[in-house]
Amino acid sequence: MIMQIVNGFSKLSKIQKIDWLVSHYFQGDMAVVSLLKSYWNSDAQLQKLHDEFIENTLTNFYLPLGVAPNFIINGKTYAIPMVIEESSVVAAASNAAKFWSKRGGFKATVLSTEKIGNVHFMFKGSKTKLTAFIQKLQPVFRNRTTDITRNMEKRGGGILKIDLVDRTKDLEDYYQLHVTFDTRDSMGANFINSCLEEFAAVLREEALKYQSFSNSERESLQIIMSILSNYVPNCLVRAEVSCKIEDLKSSEIKDPQEFAERFVQAVRIAEIETYRAVTHNKGIMNGVDAVILATGNDFRAVEAGVHAFASNTGRYSSLSHAEINGNQFRFWMDLPLALGTVGGLTNLHPMVKFAMELLGKPSANELMEIIAVAGLAQNFAAIKSLTTTGIQQGHMKMHLMNILNQLKATNEERQAVELFFKERTVSHRGVVDFIENLRKQA
Ligand code: MEV
Repeated sequence: MIMQIVNGFSKLSKIQKIDWLVSHYFQGDMAVVSLLKSYWNSDAQLQKLHDEFIENTLTNFYLPLGVAPNFIINGKTYAIPMVIEESSVVAAASNAAKFWSKRGGFKATVLSTEKIGNVHFMFKGSKTKLTAFIQKLQPVFRNRTTDITRNMEKRGGGILKIDLVDRTKDLEDYYQLHVTFDTRDSMGANFINSCLEEFAAVLREEALKYQSFSNSERESLQIIMSILSNYVPNCLVRAEVSCKIEDLKSSEIKDPQEFAERFVQAVRIAEIETYRAVTHNKGIMNGVDAVILATGNDFRAVEAGVHAFASNTGRYSSLSHAEINGNQFRFWMDLPLALGTVGGLTNLHPMVKFAMELLGKPSANELMEIIAVAGLAQNFAAIKSLTTTGIQQGHMKMHLMNILNQLKATNEERQAVELFFKERTVSHRGVVDFIENLRKQA
């Protein structure tokens, strides 16, 4: 099917965009128009706010916002907001939160808060001269960015260090300015990128005037790009739980010693086996991303940075670790998280504001702690299920609602299904057969 190329689409009104799409991709089916409109908010102002987050908005796309209560973190109790489509994630987080609330809760500590940005440039010439040039420019870099850094410095942040990095061994003539920042409670992407673009302008202009460079050196300096890095190995938070092995005993954990040993083995497998590590870390990100979304942060940035960090030894590995030390069980994780609690969507999106208020308006550091704990809790719940009952029991129990909705089950059918599967493992086929039988009998 050849679709017409459209010019000036972004200039059309929302309804014109919908009409164009429906006539070109849905044979003019008005039911599609109604569907899209049915997801508009009845409050026109609120809808406009959402429309303007991105270009070419047609409607809203719902995801559930749930809450996992009973999280004790550093002695403080939180109900953690989570936005996610996967049925068992909030249940698993709540389960782990409750479990650890009776065993001292979670501890979390911010280890470092440094953000990174780079000006990537090419230079053909003497490295000694380039090093002296960058040294000489240090105050110029600072002076030229005072307008950008003033407010950040008032809040205690700013530019920390501007280093020249020689990468010519890996790519001919390639150097960087490797810049470290403290962006306090903001994620800092705009701040960092604005500083970097100014540094790039300084480099370009000053190189042309720098007496020690030869003509060819002067002309060889070429800025390729200036951009923050989402790899933030020095913006790190540690989340952990620990208790006496015997205290792991619960209604689900009958033999705590055996449980602890199997748990540690499961984590060791994820440390050395990539196939397992990716899924293990995905489970961690179930918790992390859900809170990141609820708090209006950038989950793509966090995902990219986290997985690079998981490979920082040269092999992709588990983010979390577990050990048995004498009679103590310990489970922990260090996670790189560049987050903001001011700026971005945080002051705009009403649901993000709600999430922030629910968390007690945390600083970026406190949010790092909360999110790392949500990830660790998720991982604990997953490994606990995997090494005991298997994952499907809990997962399918939560997925049951989706199956019932697919089958358009009535209230009576739902009640009958719930009763029947109370003590049985849920499977898609099992539920379909059960409902078909019910319907035949009726
Ligand atoms: C499913 O979304 C996440 C798990 O696969 C994580 C894990 O295997 O550790 C259950």
